[in-house]
Amino acid sequence: MDIKKEFEQTLVLIKPDALKNSLTGYVLSLLSEFHTGLRFAGAKIVYVGRMLAEEHYAEHQGKIFFPSLLEYIMGKLHYPDEPWKRRVIALVYQGTDAVKKIRDICGPTNPLVARDKNPGCIRALGTLVALKDSDGNIIGERMDNLIHASATNEDAEREIKLWFTPTDIPPFMRAYPVETNHLHYFFKDGNLYLKHEPESICLLSPGDIAWKTDIDALRAIERGPQSASSLGSVAAKYLINREKEVG
Ligand code: CDP
Ligand code: MG
Repeated sequence: MDIKKEFEQTLVLIKPDALKNSLTGYVLSLLSEFHTGLRFAGAKIVYVGRMLAEEHYAEHQGKIFFPSLLEYIMGKLHYPDEPWKRRVIALVYQGTDAVKKIRDICGPTNPLVARDKNPGCIRALGTLVALKDSDGNIIGERMDNLIHASATNEDAEREIKLWFTPTDIPPFMRAYPVETNHLHYFFKDGNLYLKHEPESICLLSPGDIAWKTDIDALRAIERGPQSASSLGSVAAKYLINREKEVG
């Protein structure tokens, strides 16, 4: 048995359209250990704030569908008037070929292509939504495709570290190095502080276990000119389910 392959992980997000259409049980059945040979390593219900949405989909910044994609993953499109229903289910699956196995069951990104090329895959149940400008002209389309799944092992590592802290994952299942933190780190308005600021949020306290790459990033930010983007990718998960972001 290749132990390294056994530890391969992937991130799955059951998106707001799947929740709204009560497809959670169906999706979980298709991804079950019986079908995929993969095991749950992490699970949480997440209210997706703008920072987390932007970090998760950073590679799509600037594209025509990006603003709509953020609203979609934040649950604003499917629950415009019911913010308490806005959430996604974030899951980590683990096992040999986790990334590929789950991507295959999800199917192509575009639900129409999914229906055509791979009937029965999860995304075949998705839909296309026209994107309009302020004058009502169609400028593109958004794909509501029910599920996110990491596309590569590198994406999986970045995404799992973005959505989960090490202690969200059982110790024997963690696939990435962790470190014990020795400082206080506080966050407020996009900035990092080593001492408590009024209305700041404590990201990490001495003794907390964190991803090693997060501690490395915090040390670098603390030393050099603040890099807002790398701070966002560390801070976002510590803000999960803390603040109500209504609007
Ligand atoms: O999710 P996947 O990795 O298959 O596709 P992606 O190209 O990374 O795009 C991320 C998400 O953006 C998709 O799952 C769609 O929900 C959305 N998207 C869209 O609305 N319109 C596009 N032309 C491309 C992607
Ligand atoms: Mg992708």
